[in-house]
Amino acid sequence: MLYVINFKTYLEATGDGATRLANAIKKVSEETNSEIIACPQFTDIPKVSKMVPTFSQHIDPILPGPSTGHILAEAVKEAGAVGTLLNHSEKRISLEEIDFLIKRCREIGLKTMVCCSNVEECEKISKLKPDYIAIEPPDLIGTGRSISKERPGLITDVRRTVDIPLLCGAGISSREDVEKAKELGAVGVLISSEVVESKDPYKTLKEMVI
Ligand code: G3P
Repeated sequence: MLYVINFKTYLEATGDGATRLANAIKKVSEETNSEIIACPQFTDIPKVSKMVPTFSQHIDPILPGPSTGHILAEAVKEAGAVGTLLNHSEKRISLEEIDFLIKRCREIGLKTMVCCSNVEECEKISKLKPDYIAIEPPDLIGTGRSISKERPGLITDVRRTVDIPLLCGAGISSREDVEKAKELGAVGVLISSEVVESKDPYKTLKEMVI
């Protein structure tokens, strides 16, 4: 299984916190021989990416040039990211923007993992050929109630119609949730609050990795 740890903007995963979390991820990844991707804030990409494979949480649909305050694909790549999340439910963009960004990322060699809230969105976005699709029902995010237990049908429905590697996220908080996601056909899981807010992220993550 592939594990994606979204640092979001939690204070525990900001600055020195990002370094601590990346250390925990690195240790779990080495000890379990698993592929674990970190998604820190932009400002923490340079140091986190020296420790573990790193995706940015977003990039803006722009070309190099006069776009003050935006985040350029080339910038996150040069900072050390090997890919990016796009269209997370906390940072939505339009279908046209997703299309533009998938093409840009392909051109410059960044992987794309596009988040979707429902089956229809997954089907539309899969036609744009991102590297990964991730289904996350927004109402379960941060609740500790997992997609794999509460909405298993969402995962199987997407698997039936979409041929892009599928991850799932929202409320993933136990090893059992991860096992269930795998059983339903997901190649990986996105996890945030359970690990990021844990008193011991190393222990929590290690217990979840299958
Ligand atoms: O990107 C992953 C995320 O949205 C899931 O959040 O806190 O439910 O694990 P959480």
